[in-house]
Amino acid sequence: MPNQKLLDALTAAEAAIAEAKRFASEIVPAPQPPLKAIGDIAKLYRRGLNLGDMLDAPAEGAWPAGKLAAADFDFALAAGFDHVRITARSHAYLDNGRIAESWLDRLAWACAQAQRVGLRAIFDPLHHADKEPFNGFAQPDLLAQLWHQLAARFKDLPGDWCFELVNEPKAPLDGKALNGYLAKALAAIRAHNPTRAVHVGAAINNTTDIPPHWKAPADSWTILQGHCYLPGPFSHQQESWAGNTPKRGWDGTDAEKAEIRAQLDKAPPRWPGPIHMGEFGCTTKADQASRLRYLRFMREEFERRGWGWTVWNIRGPFGLTEGGKFQPGVAAALGLE
Ligand code: GLC
Repeated sequence: MPNQKLLDALTAAEAAIAEAKRFASEIVPAPQPPLKAIGDIAKLYRRGLNLGDMLDAPAEGAWPAGKLAAADFDFALAAGFDHVRITARSHAYLDNGRIAESWLDRLAWACAQAQRVGLRAIFDPLHHADKEPFNGFAQPDLLAQLWHQLAARFKDLPGDWCFELVNEPKAPLDGKALNGYLAKALAAIRAHNPTRAVHVGAAINNTTDIPPHWKAPADSWTILQGHCYLPGPFSHQQESWAGNTPKRGWDGTDAEKAEIRAQLDKAPPRWPGPIHMGEFGCTTKADQASRLRYLRFMREEFERRGWGWTVWNIRGPFGLTEGGKFQPGVAAALGLE
């Protein structure tokens, strides 16, 4: 014989949980701020933290960084960052060519968390779009199509937040294919977000080495997003996805610095607008003294050029935190203390 009181209590509890979930995923519609020049928006993004390897894992929680938590946003704010970058693998949740609403709710929850603590965000919902089985770089029209849905759903994000069209383009999404995709995705976004700042990559893997065939999109609300992991055999040493290269240090010699500066110097003559460094960092497999020296140098180089930056990553193979705190020396290297 079922216990009616118990059943009633369970029903009430379920209703409360459903209500809490609905509330947790709600984005607070924000009025668009008065129209600002793109350079003014870029200046709001000085020091940021990537919340990567979580929503962009093949399934959230499948990678060592684990699941994205509300506490990650509190940490980012308390650590002194002014923004986060939210990377997500939305294309892993397709249902008849559309992203499942339950996944969009999860993204909305993440955005609501950034709003709750008062951090801005660079929103990159198609991270790792090149990976199998989706292989999105071979189907840019589908990627642009997904932006119709994303841009409509997320149009009420604060007017000074940024969307990001593609992470680390590479063949076959390069050259003309990349230019074509950026134009189509921007058109999809502009239907609902006429002055939304949009991050675009120009070169393979978002380096600042812009190829000669690059044509900047005819859209004045764009920011170039660069990534820099030079030298790769140092920043990605011993990592399986980067060729398992041997252990090595980074001493900050003139030659080591010159290699990085030479690549960073290539962007400004080719891109007159704002530049933001959306990723840089180093695996925890490097010795920590080299790693901290390298992080400090990179950060200072970006700041010297007047570029904002977003360091990779809160946790995971490139993680900068342990037990919810920065590893010793990281805050100083990033100029956050
Ligand atoms: C990349 C990606 C990121 C990756 C990191 C380190 O190029 O954008 O997902 O984990 O850099 O390799």
